[in-house]
Amino acid sequence: MLIAQISDTHITKPDPDEPHTLERITALKAFVAHVGKMDERPDLILHSGDVSQGGKAEEYETVKSMMEDFDIPVFFALGNRDLGANLIEGLGDLGGAKLVGGFLIYSIDGFPVRLIAMDTQKRKSNIGTTCSFRLRILEELLEEQPDSPTALFMHHPPFEVPTSKYPFQFDDPSLADAFLRLVARHEQIVHLFCGHMHRQFSVELETCNASVTPSLSPDNRLGEYEADWKERPLFQLHRWNPDTQRFETHLSPVGGKGVT
Ligand SMILES: [Fe+2]
Repeated sequence: MLIAQISDTHITKPDPDEPHTLERITALKAFVAHVGKMDERPDLILHSGDVSQGGKAEEYETVKSMMEDFDIPVFFALGNRDLGANLIEGLGDLGGAKLVGGFLIYSIDGFPVRLIAMDTQKRKSNIGTTCSFRLRILEELLEEQPDSPTALFMHHPPFEVPTSKYPFQFDDPSLADAFLRLVARHEQIVHLFCGHMHRQFSVELETCNASVTPSLSPDNRLGEYEADWKERPLFQLHRWNPDTQRFETHLSPVGGKGVT
């Protein structure tokens, strides 16, 4: 099982006076074209949120116009800049994202590893959060299949990213702790896939691994990268290893040779 993850595309209406708006669209188009040419195509695409810059319907339409002809399902988590209702309206059909009680929390079944999208959005805020309602929905989903290896994907990491200037992006350490305690109680969880930090990071948590995918477009990416990757869109590939029951993650530039 091979997953391609992109994050923080921040797509908005193209404006010739704001070159980064064009760059972001170009980066997403280039990613779609790249995946179409990969020797081994991913089974699915995960987008870990901040799909749009302003949560507007027209921004999701722009994304849809680039991805709707893809024959690979695309699944979305909700970023702080996204608006759930508009995201579902515009992009829900690309993979099957759906809202439960107003939150974007849903499972993806039918692959060797089950995936669950978790909504970490704190309304009207840039930082992440959770609440007892969301944790209960997550726990109910996990209890449906306690023996299936499962990965969660979400926008805000519920852990510190020490390389960032703003390393902790949850509004309250006790909520992040509640989240992580839930993760530790469910041994089938093998990985947390996150975004939001605009930089690459990975960490071993108490019972599973976690990773952060950098922004796709170079214009809003943070962190250090190989010299000839600096101007290229970047995404992550996660390959499931059934022997180790872990994902092996690596960073991939758009425009490279692909995966053999
Ligand atoms: Fe974000």
